Order: sequence, then C-alpha cells, then structure tokens
Amino acid sequence: MFFDHLPENGFICGHRGARSIAPENTVLSMEKAKNCGAHCWETDVRTSSDGQLIIFHDENLERTTDIKTNKFFKDREKQQVDQFTAEELQQLGAGSWFLKDDPFGTVASGEVVPEEKEIIKSQKIPLLSEILEFTKKHSFPVNVEIKDLKTPAGDTAIVDKIMEMLRDTETMDLVLLSSFRHEYLHRAKEIDKNIGIGVLTAKKHPSNLNQYLHSMSADAYHPKQSSCDSLLLNNLRQAGFRVNIWTINDMTSAKKMLTAGAGVITDWPQRLTTGEQSHET
Ligand code: G3P
Ligand code: MG
Repeated sequence: MFFDHLPENGFICGHRGARSIAPENTVLSMEKAKNCGAHCWETDVRTSSDGQLIIFHDENLERTTDIKTNKFFKDREKQQVDQFTAEELQQLGAGSWFLKDDPFGTVASGEVVPEEKEIIKSQKIPLLSEILEFTKKHSFPVNVEIKDLKTPAGDTAIVDKIMEMLRDTETMDLVLLSSFRHEYLHRAKEIDKNIGIGVLTAKKHPSNLNQYLHSMSADAYHPKQSSCDSLLLNNLRQAGFRVNIWTINDMTSAKKMLTAGAGVITDWPQRLTTGEQSHET
C-alpha cells in the first residue's frame, strides 16, 4: 500500500513533480522530485482520443506545450487534449514553454542552471506507462490524480484502464489514486480494495466528512490548503485517515503541517528537503 512507503508522520510530495524547477508533469520533473529527496510526487492523468493514458494537467495544450508555434498542429491550439491521439501528443514539445514563461522565476534566478536548458527543451508529454516504469524501478511512490472530469456520470472507463495498468505493471502498492470526481475512487476500490485512494476536494468538505470518508473506504483526504487547519488535520488523523494538503508553497506553513503529520503537496519540494527536515523513510 502507498502509505507503507512513506513516513508515518509528515511527508513531502512534489506537485506535478518538482514543477518550480522543471516543466510540470514531465519525466524531468518527476526525476527532480525524486532527486531532491521528496518522498513521493503527484501527477495528473487523462485519456487521449485513442484511449491511451497520458500525463497532462490542463484541458488544452496552450499553456504547457509548443502547440502555438508547432507547424504540424496549425489551428489546433484551442482543441482539447482528448481530441489528439497519444502519438500526436508525443510529437509536441512540453519543455520550451517553461524556459520562455519562467513560471516560478527559477530560470531568471539561476536555480535552473543554463546547462539544463537542452534537457528541459527535450521534454515530451509522458504516457502513464512510462511513469509507472520509473515508479517501479525506483520504488518512488506516485499520487495519480485522475482528471477527465467531464465524462458522463457513470462512465468510469478511465479507472478500469488505470487499474489494469497498475496490475500489469505491478505498481498497485506504490500508487495512490485521487480525484475530484469521487465516483472514480469508488470504482477503483470496487475493482481492488487494496488500492490506496485519496478523496480530493477544492473548497467545501463533504457533509459528515468522517462518515463520508469511511463510506468511501478512503485511505486519505486531500483538502485544499485554504480549507484545512490543524483542527481538521488532527481530527482526521485521530480517525485513522492520512491527510495530504495541496498546494502549500509557503515554507513556514509547509513545515508546520509536516510537523503536525500531514502530507504536503508542494511546487517547491526542493526547499523542504534541503533544510532541517529529515527525509528518511
Ligand atoms: O492533487 C492535488 C492538486 O493537484 C489538485 O489540483 O489542479 O493542481 O491538479 P490541480
Ligand atoms: Mg493534480
């Protein structure tokens, strides 16, 4: 089970990898999260038009690929990710935008060193299968957040596909599934009760939260930082749930929550792992 690979109290989870120092949701971002000493990382999965499981956050490709300047994809920049085949998606560059936009100021500050620019530019959109290969090889746990939030109610085909891949790659115990769409998590547990699931919310907590989490057979609750205080954290911990808070980028709050026993999902895992924190599992 995912949590068996993590410290009992407080762990650092790189959000979309180490996305402040590498293009999010790429192999490089995952490697950076691991190499900086994060205990695990979080990533987002969607399906392509030909039904493959791909790693990507946004609904379209404008922000984090080179689609606007890629001549092979002229006039397709507004299309949704699920209108592209996996093969098409893998032809896009998923790294050069990071150098141009410098979303966290780490290129300008020099934290991203010039020698890394070529490898950053070479990043592509990964398949889930590639990510799981790394997960298995390095025993590096991953929280897979299932996107595809617009499929009709009752359509949980993406979950069946993911679960089949976890079984085939023997990575079930290193993966925690989460989603804003709780129906997906319910389906995952139905397929295999040993899969770890984290109930993800953005603002409002489900009413009767403890009872709700029990009814879902949840292993963890994933609240947004603004909706989670120490009281909620302690209550849920005492009730036996892990609590993984997203996305904490203020290091004082992150350290406080780590000490209180939370999982901290952060864009800056390298800042938590180079200080006084201990990272031994
Ligand atoms: O899983 C936590 C967090 O990633 C949820 O929001 O939009 O960053 O995927 P988002
Ligand atoms: Mg996410």
